[in-house]
Parts: sequence; C-alpha cells; structure tokens
Amino acid sequence: MPARIQRVTATSFFRRMKTGRNGALMLGCDDADGRIIEVVAKLRGREMNMKMQIAELITALFAPDVGIVSATPVLVEIPAEFHTIIGDRSISQTVTASSGLNFGTVNLGEFTTWVVGQAPSGVQRDQAAAIFAFDVLIQNADRRASNPNVWARAGQLGVFDHDQAFTFLALPIIGGAPKPWIPADQVQGFAFLKEHVFYSGLKGKIFDLEPFEMALAALTDTQLESYLQAVPPEWRQEKGYSKQIVEYLAESRSEAKRLVSFAKHVLR
Ligand SMILES: Nc1ncnc2c1ncn2[C@@H]1O[C@H](COP(=O)(O)OP(=O)(O)O)[C@@H](O)[C@H]1O
Ligand SMILES: [Mg+2]
Repeated sequence: MPARIQRVTATSFFRRMKTGRNGALMLGCDDADGRIIEVVAKLRGREMNMKMQIAELITALFAPDVGIVSATPVLVEIPAEFHTIIGDRSISQTVTASSGLNFGTVNLGEFTTWVVGQAPSGVQRDQAAAIFAFDVLIQNADRRASNPNVWARAGQLGVFDHDQAFTFLALPIIGGAPKPWIPADQVQGFAFLKEHVFYSGLKGKIFDLEPFEMALAALTDTQLESYLQAVPPEWRQEKGYSKQIVEYLAESRSEAKRLVSFAKHVLR
C-alpha cells in the first residue's frame, strides 16, 4: 500500500511562526520531484518529541477520512548542516537538535485564524461541531479560546496543531486510558471540552454530526493500516505508540454513535 506521505528536504529558512508554543518554522523544502515547497515544520528540538510528531502525523492523515479539513502533512528531513544557514542562535540550536525527520505541513497560504468569541453560523456550524466531536475523540485539549488552532478560508473551517492529541495514551493511567464512549469515563477527563474554542458558540445550537458519525463508523482497516504505514522507520522506537493510537481509533468505529451522543450531550 503506498504511504500517503511525502518526504521533503529542508533547503532554506524563511521565518519562525509568530503564534504557537513550539516555535514552528516556515522552511523552503525540495520535494522528490525537485520542486520547492513551503512547509511549516514542527521540530523536535524544543518541546516536541517523537510521540507528539506521531500524534500530529496520524491525526493529519485520519482527519480527512472523517471529513475534517486540515493541512497536508509531510515528513521534513533536516540535514545535519542545515543549522549553519540560520543566523538566530536559538533557532539554530533548535534546528541542530532536530536533525533527521520531523513533522511538517504544506503552507496553507492565505487564511484567517478563527476569531475567538465568534459563533459559527450556517455551514460553518456543522463544520465546527464536527471539529468539536473530532477533538472529543482524539482528546485534544489544545483548541482553546486562548489558542484556537482553527483556520478559515472562504467559508471553510480547517484545523492544525495536534501535538497534544492522544497524550492520554502516553501516560500510565490507573484503570486504563479514558474513552469518551464509556459513561464512567465521560464524568472525568473531559472537562477540557468546556474550554474548547467552539464550546460556547455551539452550546444549545442545532448542528448535524451525522456525516462525522457515519465516516467514523465506516473507517476501514485499510485506512487504519495506511496510518501505521506512513509512520517512518526512523520513528520505529515509538512503533508501539503508533499502534496504540490506531487501535484506539479502530475501537472508536463501533462506538461512533455513543461518541457523538456524548459530544451532543456536552453541547446541549
Ligand atoms: N500548514 C500551515 N500553513 C500556514 N500556517 C500554518 C500551518 N500550520 C501552522 N501554521 C501556523 O503556525 C502556527 C504554529 O503552528 P501550530 O501547529 O499551531 O504549532 P504550535 O504547536 O507551536 O502551536 C499556527 O498557529 C498557524 O498560525
Ligand atoms: Mg498552535
């Protein structure tokens, strides 16, 4: 099965992104056909670790399969000598600590960041509700009013930034990882949803989560397997973590209805 992920090599440095915790970098990269593309790279050298990069990668591949628009993921090779072209000392240190393969996404170009406090309306309300349900599933507490991680363009809402997704699988939790389709788990562990960027705008509103539910229920083993295949051999020391994420997603398919009911319950 062909991996759905392109490998590119960093060749130039444009800037550090103004928003975000990880100091993502806009880089010029050569793709396999020798074209130059702009990539927002989230390097391992600062707070990111390989598990977070795997969470980003699997989430970016999974999102479109359940109807969530995101940015196109790529694997960015940072050559060992790449830091020498960067003048800023702290950036060059991050780059030095990140040589090898890192997670990135193709530059989206023009977009607006979601204006916090705005209530989604029209078709955007269904899109926002799907993003909310998606974050319930991946247990992503990082799409908050203080840090929306939502972009908008021509009426379309999209997402980025999933390094905090699935972190519950990385921590030893007594009684096992919480699952949003298990009533006992719903009581605890999902308080973060009240901070979600769309919580107040969707609360008490009418929206359609059926397409999300149907797509999740219909996710195939082939799709799930393709996420695992896309994790590069270079990250194999975290192979177990990739498997844990995919197994969790596999289990969620038969729980899609209960998951969506929970999301609706939180927003009722
Ligand atoms: N594919 C992309 N194209 C353009 N800008 C992007 C892209 N991905 C991220 N960004 C911008 O870079 C910022 C940092 O990326 P993000 O993934 O949110 O990293 P962090 O973990 O540092 O918050 C985002 O807030 C957004 O403005
Ligand atoms: Mg961010």
